[in-house]
Amino acid sequence: MNSAHAANFANTTGAIVGRLSALRLQFPILAQPVNGQPLVYLDNAATTQIPLTVLDAMREFETRARANIHRGVHTLSQRATDAFEDARETVKRHVGAAGAHELVFTSGTTEALNMLAQGISTGLDGHAAVLGAGDEIIVSGLEHHANLVPWQQAARRSGATLRILLPDAQGRLHEDALARLLSPRTRVFALTACSNASGERPPYEAMLALAQKADALTVLDAAQAVGHSAMQLDTLACDFMAFSAHKMYGPMGIGALVGRRAAMERLTPLRFGGDMVQSVSFQRAVFAQLPARLEGGTPNVSGAVGMAAAASFIEAVGFKAIEAHLTDLRQHAVRGLRQIEGVTVLSAQTEMSAIVSFVVQGAHPHDIGTLLDARGIAVRTGHHCAQPLLEHLGTGPTTRASLAVYNTHEEVAQLLSGVAHAIEVLR
Ligand code: ALA
Repeated sequence: MNSAHAANFANTTGAIVGRLSALRLQFPILAQPVNGQPLVYLDNAATTQIPLTVLDAMREFETRARANIHRGVHTLSQRATDAFEDARETVKRHVGAAGAHELVFTSGTTEALNMLAQGISTGLDGHAAVLGAGDEIIVSGLEHHANLVPWQQAARRSGATLRILLPDAQGRLHEDALARLLSPRTRVFALTACSNASGERPPYEAMLALAQKADALTVLDAAQAVGHSAMQLDTLACDFMAFSAHKMYGPMGIGALVGRRAAMERLTPLRFGGDMVQSVSFQRAVFAQLPARLEGGTPNVSGAVGMAAAASFIEAVGFKAIEAHLTDLRQHAVRGLRQIEGVTVLSAQTEMSAIVSFVVQGAHPHDIGTLLDARGIAVRTGHHCAQPLLEHLGTGPTTRASLAVYNTHEEVAQLLSGVAHAIEVLR
């Protein structure tokens, strides 16, 4: 971490509340008025804000080392290659990937999951795809469309059957329900580490272990977890994990697919072209080893550098402190919202989640969001790209406040009074 500000907020043992002023200086965007009010940014599940340390790292790359990677003997190309490969190592360490793992940079979680679903349902040069007719894919009912629609397509492409692990009426997933769905035909089990729409945090460790024991390839969408929970990939029964930088204080347009190398090697590449080949003739190509094999084309090197700097930012603040702070803020928000008449909070009891999603009897989320915005409060409203889940739960669209390390209890109080005011206006 190369910013002069870093020492002020970096303290892995201290509570975050005591460091908030220094920490918020890292995020100048927060210090602006919106609609004449101080900005209260509570849309972090969509995109977190970016600290100066991350911008510094990206600026340093762009102004000192910008060049294409793996393609030149010249000094800048070598610097860029080193920066990219160092970033890969940092991000791997950040999610607890070990020697048996490989990490491929993607444009984000969506591309990572598409790379995976397409990669195991498409054959390559006469070799059959991993997925075939008669196989089964199990996807949890909590998923974002990005961890559902690619599997629908993979099922169509391969002739496999898609099965959904439905949550109960409270939006919780149960291991015994998964055990009933698993069969000798199950090839894939895909699950989120935290629902972006309800905030539910399923017991993914146990569920992945159960599915892996049944010989399924296990997939974890960690987009809503990497920003605040320490992911220890080497202790998880997880073959593939996908996540994005822009939900962990990093830049947009960069993310990763990380997984067991042996499983990653089975993927047919999504992007064919430069840098992913060993040799090419007019009629055929021999493909490169991982990770290059899955990284065709010029990658987002500055993004990868920023993603690594974001991982370092999180580590400097400290996972334990971040989790404790977000748990406190969420409990504050849930308690307060439940005291407002007509408000129902989804997955109110779930733990280690930074998402508070709620519905208000007789008031449309879009109207609530608009009235909150008039007070400078940014939330997301709608189906949050998880329409089947919200239809299954019978809630329809919700209002979603999502928290990050820089949020304060004062901001939660503003959300609560903003919601109470919106209800007054709308009823
Ligand atoms: N997946 C992002 C969200 O939940 C965009 O808002």
